[in-house]
Amino acid sequence: MCGIFGIVADREQQLGPILIEAGQRLSYRGYDSVGCATLRDDGTIDLRKDVGKVDEVAARLRLSEMVGRRGIIQLRWATFGAPSRVNAQPHLDSDGDLVGAHNGNVVNNVELRQQFMAEGMTVRSTNDGESCVHAVERYVDRGYDMVEAIRRAYRDLEGDYAFVIGRVGEDRLYAIKKGSGLVAGLADGATCVSSDLPSILPLTRRILRVQDGEIVILWADRVELRRVEDGSPVEREVEEVTESMEVAEKGGYPHFMLKEIHEQPQVAGELLHLLEASPHVTPMVERMAAARHLYLVGCGTSYHACLLGAIYLARLAGRPAVPILAPQFIAQYGPAVGPRDVGVFVSQSGETKDVLNAVEVAQRQGMEVLGLVNVLGSTLMNESEHYLPLVCGYEISVPATKTFTNQAVAFLFLALRMGGHSTTDLAHLPEMLEETLAAVEPQVSALESALADRDDLYCLGYGLTYPIALEGALKLKEITYAHCEGMLSTEFKHGPLSAVEEGYPVLFVVGPEDVPLLVSGINETTTRGGRAIAIGEEDSRLRANAHDLIVLPPAGPLFNPLLAVLPLQLLAYRLSLSRGYDPDFPRNLSKTLTVD
Ligand code: G6P
Repeated sequence: MCGIFGIVADREQQLGPILIEAGQRLSYRGYDSVGCATLRDDGTIDLRKDVGKVDEVAARLRLSEMVGRRGIIQLRWATFGAPSRVNAQPHLDSDGDLVGAHNGNVVNNVELRQQFMAEGMTVRSTNDGESCVHAVERYVDRGYDMVEAIRRAYRDLEGDYAFVIGRVGEDRLYAIKKGSGLVAGLADGATCVSSDLPSILPLTRRILRVQDGEIVILWADRVELRRVEDGSPVEREVEEVTESMEVAEKGGYPHFMLKEIHEQPQVAGELLHLLEASPHVTPMVERMAAARHLYLVGCGTSYHACLLGAIYLARLAGRPAVPILAPQFIAQYGPAVGPRDVGVFVSQSGETKDVLNAVEVAQRQGMEVLGLVNVLGSTLMNESEHYLPLVCGYEISVPATKTFTNQAVAFLFLALRMGGHSTTDLAHLPEMLEETLAAVEPQVSALESALADRDDLYCLGYGLTYPIALEGALKLKEITYAHCEGMLSTEFKHGPLSAVEEGYPVLFVVGPEDVPLLVSGINETTTRGGRAIAIGEEDSRLRANAHDLIVLPPAGPLFNPLLAVLPLQLLAYRLSLSRGYDPDFPRNLSKTLTVD
């Protein structure tokens, strides 16, 4: 959600452009406010922040002109305190000689603010990032040095967070990690720290991965790590990052979402290559097969992949699995699971707090934790006994597209392996995805005007296409702001059918095995004047009964869901644009939700 970046240079200089670029690379997380602070050699702090996108705020507040030896940028996604200038980060302490910003969630923020005010500190906002600064101030004022003050502040700040902080009159920045991501980088003439690796890579490929409970001290020429529990030094090897960074560019597409939609054939191919060669598939399959109960756990799009995964596992391997939303896993099964149970936790980011909470419960109960995760080095990856990487690269657009496809492909692969089936047919999948994108793009455009003004629609599926209907509805909701409900087609007649009137649009995602059943559903809608839009393979029955048919290439029941999601992604994208929205950064949403 929020993102932080801090830099310490060996001399005073114009840090604004570096901070802005780092902010742009943090922006994929979704945010509502931006702020920068620089600490100058003359002992002053230049703090500029406001609500808005990085480029807007940078232009309005002339962030590029900011000068200093040390600098911090933060992108905020509101949790505590409304999006506003005063709640934007970084924050100053009472007398303005400390400045800091955080990422994450300080859960005892309200109590802390009251304490700080009672102690006579100047509390300016309701944002919990400010509490991190005052928590340090409290101990600096009592005469402790910065490291000691941060150690003590750490004990007072409950929740999961990382923060970066600097003090006037010094030449260092400090950071601490507790549950939220933090990476440090060593460049020529500067060091930096960030919640996100991509914002460091333009400066350096030499990094240090910070662990929970570690304090980072950044000097211009070195990075020191200390244990928060006793202040002792931590020895860690510097890592050389090899992966490519061109992903932050849109590759010729107007939006990351469209780029990422079109990357699906390629990333699916890369994942299949990896899975064929991976030593991790067999242990994953063995553990999933041997489990007493098997749970597939995720949120949002990742949960929809779990739903599809459960169907693949049942059909192809005879392995029942319970797909469940992560918070409900805790509430519903938390007390009942035990050491013979296995959970596959699915998350693009590997940092979704709801998922990590479920992992914690699973671990406490002795369950085995397996992961399907896109962001390497993420918390979920580190917590998983075995994991498969989704190898999608950075997914920048808030609506997940390519990661859904690879989550589903991974489940299909695992199910085929578990069932003792060959996986060779999967090799055709990338070209089928490619062919589908080319085939459906003009068909989706043709529908755009019919749906552009609709604020209310349904998306129905059955069996293997039920998860796709939910995922399509989620995409439409996320980026068109229309109400779109995904539902099992057979449930429609048990209530929602009453909404149907002349022209009311209902999308039907039709698997090749289920045409007769879906044709009944289509007729229930059309006889009441509704507009039935089918997505399925060429079929005279669908042609005869639905108003519109988006034709998918013939692929059979198992591959069909993987193709059917593509026109829904494209439809959501197009409708988002036609309504004048930015599909990459929908309002109110965040790419990575690191709060409960
Ligand atoms: C947020 C995003 C969704 C995403 C969900 C789970 O709500 O906006 O697009 O599906 O988190 O994210 P994860 O990283 O765990 O897959």
